[in-house]
Amino acid sequence: MTTLRDDFLRFVCQTSPEPLGIEVERAHGCVVVDKNGREYLDLLSGIGVANLGHAHPVVVQAIKDQAERYLHAMVYGEYIQEPQVRLARRLAEVVPKPLSVSYFTNSGTEAVEGALKTARKYTGRSRFVSFIGGFHGDTFGALSVGGNSLYRAPFEPLLPTVTFLPFNDLDALVDIDETVAAVIIEPIQGEGGVRIPDSEFLPRVHQRCREIGALLIFDEVITGFGRTGRLFACEHWDVTPDILVLAKALGGGMPLGAFISTPEIMATLSTDPPLAHVTTFGGHPVCCAAGLASLEVILQEDLPQRAQVSGEEFLRKLQMLVGTGGFTAGRGRGLLIGMDFATPEATRNFVQTCFATGLILGWTLHRDTVVRLAPPLIISSAEIDQAVALMREALRRGG
Ligand SMILES: Cc1ncc(COP(=O)(O)O)c(C=O)c1O
Repeated sequence: MTTLRDDFLRFVCQTSPEPLGIEVERAHGCVVVDKNGREYLDLLSGIGVANLGHAHPVVVQAIKDQAERYLHAMVYGEYIQEPQVRLARRLAEVVPKPLSVSYFTNSGTEAVEGALKTARKYTGRSRFVSFIGGFHGDTFGALSVGGNSLYRAPFEPLLPTVTFLPFNDLDALVDIDETVAAVIIEPIQGEGGVRIPDSEFLPRVHQRCREIGALLIFDEVITGFGRTGRLFACEHWDVTPDILVLAKALGGGMPLGAFISTPEIMATLSTDPPLAHVTTFGGHPVCCAAGLASLEVILQEDLPQRAQVSGEEFLRKLQMLVGTGGFTAGRGRGLLIGMDFATPEATRNFVQTCFATGLILGWTLHRDTVVRLAPPLIISSAEIDQAVALMREALRRGG
């Protein structure tokens, strides 16, 4: 008889030679429990999804309640579905003004696709600018603006009209000209190694877009919903994009993405022709009910502020480990933290030793010398201490 692990390796398409391979029995709060009852402290939140922790009871209840009312009723945009409308309205209250109209999708990459298409149609221009090290998803459009040639190369030809600029380089911004429909950027690069730009950079990108008439798209798929110590990372720089892209924590653990813009920009999707950008499941009522419940908890419990305070504590404690096991520097905003290592080997050793002792963390997709931490925003001081103690031991062994 085959085991579940055998069947996972055989029947589920594998995307990595070394999957983490935890056989999940259940997950709650900051803990994932495997089938043998072993508990792992989750410092990744399913990659930035479980901001409230796993299976938050308020979210689970909202899912159950909505599942009993109705599941899928109609493709996007035809019926008035209460959870979708209420979530869109609540988002309009909390995202920077004048953004107020949401288009819901099933994932982050689809939201990026929608944002790119909207920008092209609205501006009548074809070119996009994005940044080296940026990550926006794996569908063709999103991959085309992904700033790592290693991941683009096997799938080329992609969109031909993309220019990649160095991140955090003010001089490079002159390349944004009047042929550009949109500039797409993560305010803090996640997969690129938790790169935080200097204070001037994003305001200057914004200014350049204004001068030239290009739209500015902020991809806050990883940085949204309190992760960096503000509800949205753009608030750190007081820059309001033309289009805000959200996903991951938006659905409270259910698959949900959105791109949000002004009524004027979003009106471009209503005509010429109508139904030119539609989706069957985008904005699924159960996902929107979960997203709304999650957002209310984030706001009521002021989790952005909590992330700010816990992030400072976590980083302060990590800084004391710098210099051991190849760990050279730490940085972060809120609970999005990057740990730099001297070599990919030191990074891998650290991640594997941590995992063996019950800590879930990983290196970033585009930087194999950076370990990214993105724990649930509800992580307690005791859990931070537990994580730091295990990391200290892993670094001691790796050094
Ligand atoms: C910044 C950013 N944008 C877009 C995406 C793509 O989101 P999804 O995996 O939901 O398609 C990701 C996924 O990791 C991301 O980190």
